[in-house]
Amino acid sequence: MSTIDRAHCESRDLDDPLRHCRDRFSLPNGIVYLDGNSLGPLPKTAPEAVSRCVSAEWGDGLISSWNDARWIDLPARAGNLLAPLIGARPDEIVFGDSTSVSLFKLAAALLASSSRGKNIVSETGNFPTDIYILEGLIRLLGGRHDLVRADMGDVEAAIDDETALVVLTHVNYRSGAMHPMARITEKCRSMGIPLIWDLCHSAGAVPLDLQGDGIEYAIGCGYKYLNGGPGAPAFTYIRTSSQPAFDPVLTGWFSHARPFKFEPDYDPHQSIAKAQVGTPPVIALTGMVEGLKTFDDVDQNTIRTKSLALSDLFMALVDQELSEHGFEIVTPRNADNRGSQVSLVHTQGYAIMQYLIAKGFVGDYREPGLLRFGLTPLYLRFADIWDCIACMRDAMETGAWDRPEFGERKTVT
Ligand SMILES: Cc1ncc(COP(=O)(O)O)c(C=O)c1O
Repeated sequence: MSTIDRAHCESRDLDDPLRHCRDRFSLPNGIVYLDGNSLGPLPKTAPEAVSRCVSAEWGDGLISSWNDARWIDLPARAGNLLAPLIGARPDEIVFGDSTSVSLFKLAAALLASSSRGKNIVSETGNFPTDIYILEGLIRLLGGRHDLVRADMGDVEAAIDDETALVVLTHVNYRSGAMHPMARITEKCRSMGIPLIWDLCHSAGAVPLDLQGDGIEYAIGCGYKYLNGGPGAPAFTYIRTSSQPAFDPVLTGWFSHARPFKFEPDYDPHQSIAKAQVGTPPVIALTGMVEGLKTFDDVDQNTIRTKSLALSDLFMALVDQELSEHGFEIVTPRNADNRGSQVSLVHTQGYAIMQYLIAKGFVGDYREPGLLRFGLTPLYLRFADIWDCIACMRDAMETGAWDRPEFGERKTVT
């Protein structure tokens, strides 16, 4: 294979059909941002929109803004914008609450309304909050269920007649490995087992077809690939045909059919609004809407094509430039099995990542030894990947990463 150089990367940037999208973000000068899988960058339109929401709508409009500025519609409005990105119908998504709470409300309702099986199947390496939420739920339900954790490749075999519920994160937060969503969904459907997909590392990053794949329930973050801002609300998806049978257990007033009638008895909404709980976080949702607008006029396949090209380039350059420096690529090389990040393991991963961040190449670190690089096609350039790997190569050749300040542990890594 011929050697890749910076000129090759620059020429790919010239041919990039998503080149114009970079201008939708406020990116600080001198930073190559490889952490959009943790916190998306600031959309250029967000400061003005959030400021309008605070000053004009809250400040001047006061409570009338629930009607006049249509604050009340924000959870569904954000859902409408997300729908085409995940292959859903607009009336199947609502924003609000965190992913953790959204998982609880779906899992609790599904377990409460089913008497089948006793096992809750998940992945050993699932994001910890998903596991913690399921463990708490098992305690709440009196220990009638067991949590079965299987390694990624063993998940399908773990789903059997004893299974009450399956909870899986589509793309693993550490390795970037991706489950075969359609196949697992079909297995659960044919056995009548409810399945919740956590799409935190998929929505906005890999093509999804929730309608086509028969997905019934899903949740996902707003603050990662969807660029909704720090602590942005998560989304909950319930397939139209599954909504009538879905019986909420977090029966807050915003899930009521007529919240502003203040009726003494509970009567759930018949639409996706039944997945809401309490008053929507208006300011955060305003930022969320601007994040979703950064995907305007961009189709999922164009994003995927560039995402795979970026990760192929990243891995090829690790092979070409860093082969003697002890890095191991843990992200699957096969395009069908990976999301939109590349993860490397190195015994000195923490200090190397701190060095890269100090040099303006912002990725992140996960214990033990994992360097994560999020590849976000809307604003990353091929030349950025070259520059990041070149910085790593220099660091490894000179030992520049090996200084006490790069070893100091920060609270958030
Ligand atoms: C796969 C996955 N699920 C859930 C969460 C937690 O989301 P939240 O903080 O919105 O509860 C994260 C956060 O990084 C995640 O990566």
